[in-house]
Amino acid sequence: MTTPRLTSSTRLDRVKPFKAMSVMQRAEELEAQGRKIVHMEVGEPDFTTAGPIVTAGIEALQKGRTQYTAAAGLDSLRAKIADHYKSRYCVSVDPQRVFVTPGASAGLVLLANLLIEPGSGVLLPDPAYPCIRNFIHLRGAQPQLVPVSSKQNFQPRLEGLENARAPDTSGVWLASPSNPTGTILERDQLAAICQWTSRHGLHFLMDEIYHGLHYVADMPSVLELDQSCFVVNSFSKYFGMTGWRIGWIVVPDAYVDTVNSLAQNLYISAPTVSQYAAMAAFEEPTLEILEHRREAFRQRRDFLVQALEELGFKLPESIQGAFYIYAGIEKFSANSEEFCADMLEKHGVAITPGSDFGEHGSDRYVRFAFTTSMDDLRLAVSRLAAALA
Ligand SMILES: Cc1ncc(COP(=O)(O)O)c(C=O)c1O
Repeated sequence: MTTPRLTSSTRLDRVKPFKAMSVMQRAEELEAQGRKIVHMEVGEPDFTTAGPIVTAGIEALQKGRTQYTAAAGLDSLRAKIADHYKSRYCVSVDPQRVFVTPGASAGLVLLANLLIEPGSGVLLPDPAYPCIRNFIHLRGAQPQLVPVSSKQNFQPRLEGLENARAPDTSGVWLASPSNPTGTILERDQLAAICQWTSRHGLHFLMDEIYHGLHYVADMPSVLELDQSCFVVNSFSKYFGMTGWRIGWIVVPDAYVDTVNSLAQNLYISAPTVSQYAAMAAFEEPTLEILEHRREAFRQRRDFLVQALEELGFKLPESIQGAFYIYAGIEKFSANSEEFCADMLEKHGVAITPGSDFGEHGSDRYVRFAFTTSMDDLRLAVSRLAAALA
């Protein structure tokens, strides 16, 4: 039998592997050889899913909730998500505008299909979550990168967006808090971008997946400012449900029917058991557990920020959310991939090279994920200290 030939496709050629996952794979190989590796490469909470959510999932299985749901998700869950906007952000969202998705990832793929035409361009910050660039390429469109640096707290300003805007630009995709930098857009900056996008007739997608994991008093949802935006969120990070594959999107009224058709075709529905489990995510006992975890992340951040600065890494002015530190390594190396390989192979510390996230000076950055215990963070710091002495 002959193997069918893979046709050459520029769209596919442009899709790059996710380096954080390759680092993890290598780290696991080293562990299998008996080495102790500190994992700081993957953006996944080390806490297992909170008890009340697990119980709700088990009950759903025991009750035989194993069929598809409607493509938009269970109405009861959509209503709870809408209530979450009311209680956390004081904003009214019609549950009909909420679609439950198999993770934020499926939400992003759906919105890429909805919003991006082949041959168009989409503005996004550099650095940013790598899959976004790839989703845009898969649509036969062009990521139009807006370089951001520590000078703008790694979030785009209007001037940068304006400089990168081209006649074919159709929209802007941002994340706050950001992966890989952990920095946020302040309320006035977000409002200015909303006005700028509507002035230029651009769609505006905000990835709010790290909401909840923020360490500042004011963490606005873009829906407080402009209901014509597209919002992506997930139960993966703050709610600690990565493996359940469940998230949601909120879309403007006018798009509800089209999004429903896309959801039916792309994935039929989000995992049913996960939807029942997620119903317990907004309950008081669960939120209490999650708030303790947020506090644990804050303590880890405080420890690691101080330790990395003492070691000579260059850090953003403030890490306001998520569980990442995007650290400048210019004092040590001009090649983040070599630096990360060295830290892993010789010193047993797994971190992700900046080149995973962009092209703008990314070789001089690495990403630390503080998704591991304080004991492991201390071990990592002592290993880094020995390595860099
Ligand atoms: C910014 C951002 N968006 C989306 C995702 C996808 O998350 P999930 O599909 O697990 O909800 C991630 C995962 O790390 C992320 O960092």
